[in-house]
Amino acid sequence: MHPLLNIDNITYRNINRKPVLDFSKIDSIAFQSGFTFLGQGRHRRTYLAPHARFVLKFPLNEYGATANRQEHRLWHKFKNKPDPNNYNIIYAPCRLINSSILLMWAMISIGGDTNGDDSATDSGQVSRLESDEYPEWSDYVDAEQVGKLRNGKIAAYDFSIT
Ligand SMILES: Nc1ncnc2c1ncn2[C@@H]1O[C@H](COP(=O)(O)OP(=O)(O)OP(=O)(O)O)[C@@H](O)[C@H]1O
Ligand SMILES: [Mg+2]
Repeated sequence: MHPLLNIDNITYRNINRKPVLDFSKIDSIAFQSGFTFLGQGRHRRTYLAPHARFVLKFPLNEYGATANRQEHRLWHKFKNKPDPNNYNIIYAPCRLINSSILLMWAMISIGGDTNGDDSATDSGQVSRLESDEYPEWSDYVDAEQVGKLRNGKIAAYDFSIT
């Protein structure tokens, strides 16, 4: 059990024999614990922790779980150094909870075209990355999903290869 959020109650429904997150329950657990909904992509649903230092990314399906594990592995391998095998991309710090939920350092501003879901910036919880803040390697991150961490460093926040 995570000290801030009880994630042991997460339920997945089976659709076409594949597990899909029933996120209405996660929403209520998250909101009761002071987390706020930030945004959702094709594979993951992201919440901001009450003190805004980190986000939790819940897999919506098996691709989301794979993405979470992949991102954790990549971050762990390169830490704050550019990945020489992947256009020198710098990854956002993260750690894995219960083998499938990703705890990632929160971005204070984000860029990119996140598949039409701009709820994180629309809600005013995260600002938009300035055009001159994009690093050279952002072209190589899917939909330029890069952002600025609280320490001012720029890193990719969606960098799995799913
Ligand atoms: N570290 C972060 N800090 C702040 N907001 C974030 C962070 N990571 C993700 N988000 C927000 O949550 C949304 C969903 O997360 P993410 O892009 O990782 O999901 P996804 O399902 O992999 O997306 P896609 O459909 O692009 O593959 C993002 O569009 C962004 O608005
Ligand atoms: Mg995304």
